[in-house]
Amino acid sequence: MTKTATLALGGPAQDYAVLEGSIGPDVLDIRKLYARTGAFTFDPGFTSTAACESGITYIDGDQGVLLHRGYSIEDLARDSSFMEVAYLLTEGELPTHEELATFKYTISRHTMVHEQLMQFFRGFRRDAHPMAIMCGVVGALSAFYHDSTDIDDPKQRMIASHRLIAKMPTIAALAYKYSIGQPFIYPDNSLSYTGNFLRMTFAVPAEPYVVNPVVERALDRIFILHADHEQNASTSTVRLAGSSGANPFACIAAGIACLWGPAHGGANEAALNMLREIGTPDKIPHYIARAKDKDDSFRLMGFGHRVYKNYDPRATVMQQTVREVFKEMNVTDPIFDVALQLEEMALNDPYFIEKKLFPNVDFYSGIILSAIGFPTSMFTALFALARTVGWVAQWNEMIGDPEQKIGRPRQLYTGAPQRPFVPLDKR
Ligand code: ACO
Repeated sequence: MTKTATLALGGPAQDYAVLEGSIGPDVLDIRKLYARTGAFTFDPGFTSTAACESGITYIDGDQGVLLHRGYSIEDLARDSSFMEVAYLLTEGELPTHEELATFKYTISRHTMVHEQLMQFFRGFRRDAHPMAIMCGVVGALSAFYHDSTDIDDPKQRMIASHRLIAKMPTIAALAYKYSIGQPFIYPDNSLSYTGNFLRMTFAVPAEPYVVNPVVERALDRIFILHADHEQNASTSTVRLAGSSGANPFACIAAGIACLWGPAHGGANEAALNMLREIGTPDKIPHYIARAKDKDDSFRLMGFGHRVYKNYDPRATVMQQTVREVFKEMNVTDPIFDVALQLEEMALNDPYFIEKKLFPNVDFYSGIILSAIGFPTSMFTALFALARTVGWVAQWNEMIGDPEQKIGRPRQLYTGAPQRPFVPLDKR
């Protein structure tokens, strides 16, 4: 039986359809609300609003569940590779051996960027933040790849998607090399997606570079954990930009800009900086007290999530990965002990229990990235690299959706009502 909800708004009651997804909460279809009642809904931050229909990623924030195309993030992180997840997210199903080989080959053919685009990097100040460079350079891709900007052509959409996934590691590595004054390293397509990125980031022309398989696997897993996350702020930004018909390179640049914020992708950088500032376990109570103080703007970075109110499953995998990497590389970091103790103290504190605040994916990621050798300024760029897969998948889904319309939220206007203009000399 079709479910309906009845709403009476200063007139006769009217029925609204209640849409059911395959799993997850029902969704009240209010598309006719304004036409029928003249009223809008008010939901800043979209806490109760579904902005689209999607079959890509499912999150149950109360249970701490994250599924990509129905597969749990724990299974994917343990048993698959980032390229497999990229195929899964963009194509809808896990690849066969042959499909995966073809996909990897295709991506590897697009890893180079136009030589003229390389010159863009030299226009930035040498101390520019890698995310500032990423925003600019990814936006500029549309000026170089005109032959894949027609969004009505499925083939062009596919090529643009492959180009974005393939070129993002090259662009992130170039941004890093530029910021530290080292020569650019060209891609080596004989390496894996992640191995190639490590080489472009850490190799120098003067010495041979061998990819460490433990580091390669750990980084690949970090990429899997960041690949997609349903309708988060940056993905919604990509969709909103794309809803006007903007080309995919411009849309992904918009997503990168949104991701940069400290409440979103910038949190991994902020979390490690915070852990370093805390420094030793004896200082933890002071910082927990600050986080709880209403008059102090300090928050525990890497803690809390709009959707997860139980535990972020990605944080669990990330914590395990730190342990594995440290064990296999035979390294330790006192900051990891600070993080573990901070988590334990916060999880036993009534403030964090009551508000359902748990470590999110960013709480532990910085510790591994730092152990691998990335400076904190690169953390969000790595997130952008991995999330490009999700952005591209969501953008393609939106373009193919027959219900797709330009995104145009409404507002609750609280400004001045209409009034007569007063000429300057009369004011
Ligand atoms: N430390 C201390 N208190 C917190 C924290 C925190 N990290 N996060 C939320 N709170 C408190 C808020 O002060 C608020 O308290 P109140 O109800 O007394 O006013 C309550 O918990 C709810 O917080 P909101 O900000 O309203 O929750 P929202 O869902 O809007 O925000 C967010 C979620 C932005 C992630 C928030 O928890 C935060 O700022 N965390 C730190 C930044 C961070 O780690 N971001 C990464 C998110 S994951 C990602 O993007 C990959």
